[in-house]
Amino acid sequence: MAESPLDRLLDLSCTEIERRAALAAPSPSVFDSGASAFRSALGSATTVPVPKRTVPVTQHLAGIGASALALAVHEAAPELSWVASPRTTDGGSDVALAPINDVRDLGSLTCGLMLLAPNAVYPEHSHPPQEVYLPIAGGGSWRYGGQANFRVLANDALVYNNPGDVHSVVADDEPLLALYILWP
Ligand SMILES: [Fe+2]
Repeated sequence: MAESPLDRLLDLSCTEIERRAALAAPSPSVFDSGASAFRSALGSATTVPVPKRTVPVTQHLAGIGASALALAVHEAAPELSWVASPRTTDGGSDVALAPINDVRDLGSLTCGLMLLAPNAVYPEHSHPPQEVYLPIAGGGSWRYGGQANFRVLANDALVYNNPGDVHSVVADDEPLLALYILWP
């Protein structure tokens, strides 16, 4: 079966996590572990047909720039199904998720895109699986890694949350887009 734009986006995202993991010390790191789990899940991913959905905040996808990953997101747009986050009450006006598990069987790995409108907040939450975020576009302040404060990330940074870490992100004055993976 030919690789679709969404498959190319996921492959490019995994490659970018691997690239940024190589920049992070120490090595091998939790990021390598996440990239490995992601690569393995992609290797056996099968397509799940679902009706495509969208929410108002996706208008901000026009403002995510023209990096290789942003272009891959644009090309994969027809295959993405956006929904309001179950952790917010805005109905998708400021925050949305495109759960990749809705369109690909990834086994025990959870993957998706998170989109925030400028100045929007993804609420503090925690969950049993560990998690890596790959920031794709936009800046903001992240609470992560068991810390209580919010920090601005360095360029090419990845975000790691241990199981149970309370985490959150607040977008700056641009839309914020990130890919997340959670794995056991
Ligand atoms: Fe999370």
